[in-house]
Amino acid sequence: MLKLSMAIVAVLLTSAAANAADIEAGKAKAQACAACHGDTGVSTTETIPSLAGQPDLYTQWQLIFFRAGTRKNEQMQAVVEDLTNEDIRNLGAYFASLPPPKGVTPDPDPGLSDKGKLSAAGRRCTSCHLDSFAGVKATARIAGQREDYLLKALRDYKSGARAGGGMAAMADVAYSLQDEEITALAHYLAHVQ
Ligand code: HEC
Ligand code: HEC
Repeated sequence: MLKLSMAIVAVLLTSAAANAADIEAGKAKAQACAACHGDTGVSTTETIPSLAGQPDLYTQWQLIFFRAGTRKNEQMQAVVEDLTNEDIRNLGAYFASLPPPKGVTPDPDPGLSDKGKLSAAGRRCTSCHLDSFAGVKATARIAGQREDYLLKALRDYKSGARAGGGMAAMADVAYSLQDEEITALAHYLAHVQ
């Protein structure tokens, strides 16, 4: 009797594990990402984003957008074609488990960061990205992201090259941003502590 109930518990645990994300499997899959996104999910390559510390759901949604073709990027297109839903769940959990990149110090242009800080406050970026800019759910972490990538991302939303998920929140936000303000915001966020 004891043996039987142990067997049932074992089956239940296994099926629960099958549905939950597997960080170790995500780590193994992420070897294919390291050449571009960095060994620890912190990118050292121009215009390639860091993934470490991104909210789990944000990473998952972006992979789904790339796979569906609603977010377009030649380099990512080749990568996502073979990813299963399970791979995507595991990758989301793995990158969320890594320590996020820190804001770059020293800040070579604190004046520009001050402008970016004012703009971020005026435009209420924190209402979605949180006070720490760490992001939540399908909203990206933007603190400590690469400056060149932040610039590209904001310009892509503004031009419509990137539509953004959900309620098209970022397309609405970026539409009214002048390039000078985009430059200041990207600089501020890349250096925010
Ligand atoms: C050949 C280089 C390359 C490889 C390999 C690669 N990526 Fe990317 N990835 C990119 C580039 C470039 C972008 C930025 C796309 C853009 O500008 O919109 C990107 C963007 C992303 C984003 C969106 C991040 C954000 O902040 O919006 C995610 C998520 C992502 N990659 C996950 C992965 C995963 C997971 C793998 C491995 C399975 C991987 N990538 C492999 C080049 C690569
Ligand atoms: C109404 C909510 C909302 C507001 C306000 C908002 N964002 Fe976002 N932001 C989002 C969401 C949701 C995403 C992910 C969109 C997607 O799927 O492409 C995002 C994505 C981004 C990205 C892309 C990150 C990446 O890794 O690719 C940047 C950069 C960004 N936001 C900057 C800002 C800045 C700067 C402001 C203020 C000027 C701002 N956001 C205001 C919701 C918001």
